[in-house]
Amino acid sequence: MTASYVAAPDAVVIDTDPGVDDAIALLMALSCPQLDVVGLTTTAGNVPIGPATRNALALLENVSRTDIPVARGAARPMRGRFAYARHVHSAEGLTHPLPPPTSRTSDTGAVRFLAQTLRANPGRVTVIALGPLTNLARLHRDHPTALPLAKRVLVMGGAVQTPGNVTPSAEFNFYSDPTAARLVIESGIPLTLIDMAPCRQVFLTRADVEAARPSTSAGILAQQLLAGWFGQDPTRERFHMYDPLTLVAAVNPDAIRLRWTTMTVDDSTTTDDSSLWGRCRVLDETGGPIRVAERGGVDVQTSLRVIRELLGWSHPAGN
Ligand code: RIB
Ligand code: CA
Repeated sequence: MTASYVAAPDAVVIDTDPGVDDAIALLMALSCPQLDVVGLTTTAGNVPIGPATRNALALLENVSRTDIPVARGAARPMRGRFAYARHVHSAEGLTHPLPPPTSRTSDTGAVRFLAQTLRANPGRVTVIALGPLTNLARLHRDHPTALPLAKRVLVMGGAVQTPGNVTPSAEFNFYSDPTAARLVIESGIPLTLIDMAPCRQVFLTRADVEAARPSTSAGILAQQLLAGWFGQDPTRERFHMYDPLTLVAAVNPDAIRLRWTTMTVDDSTTTDDSSLWGRCRVLDETGGPIRVAERGGVDVQTSLRVIRELLGWSHPAGN
């Protein structure tokens, strides 16, 4: 009788600006047996750093995972100021009230936490970035040997050969800190970029949320957050799964067909035209360190199935 070997779960650090879709992605990660969340680093983005960090602490407390350290990160981008997206995520960043957290952040800031974790576990930690890339850019600027030690890097951001969701050129994370995005994308470090193109195809409707039959505390909170989001505005029809799709790419890579490219990002050092800041420009379609989804390369049904399974939502009839 041969033993069945189950690979050890992947250690991951998630850099996040919670935010409703960040919260859904975090709940998925915390429910996934393939992942061992060893830390969260927070950044302003959807909301200021205070609420973003409080939300990260409160989410971990809600699922009894206060063993996971939360390291506070960027309050401001590398240039200028964050625009925030309170109109999307609510003033405090979450659309279902959570008790104020009793746990506290790590004494170590986000950049140092990332550097220490990557150096202590060379080749074994996956970094998943779900907000503006300020923490990762500062990490690479101040500790250039650290990020290359990551086992994998996955980023939600950018609009590659497709319109943005903030300006015609830029997606929110890259728009929020275009210089950080440029520094990470130009670093030469191989990474998977889940950009606007696949995210446009993967969404949940109001009816999908109402039909969910969550069986876990994570799934119940996810349904409450999404119901709260739809409840904020009766005209809302689709909740796009930006950050959750990045988690899908981390645990089920076959759900998204990828192509290797070389890319840059416009910022104030590349153009004076601020309407272009955050724009992704593909420099080489035949190869390079940035893996992006092929056009039409996302398996929507598989992606939604993985999201529902990780949230413990039963499949609606027929799906
Ligand atoms: O453009 C979508 C991205 O910006 C998501 O990560 C969302 O949470 C916001 O950070
Ligand atoms: Ca985010």
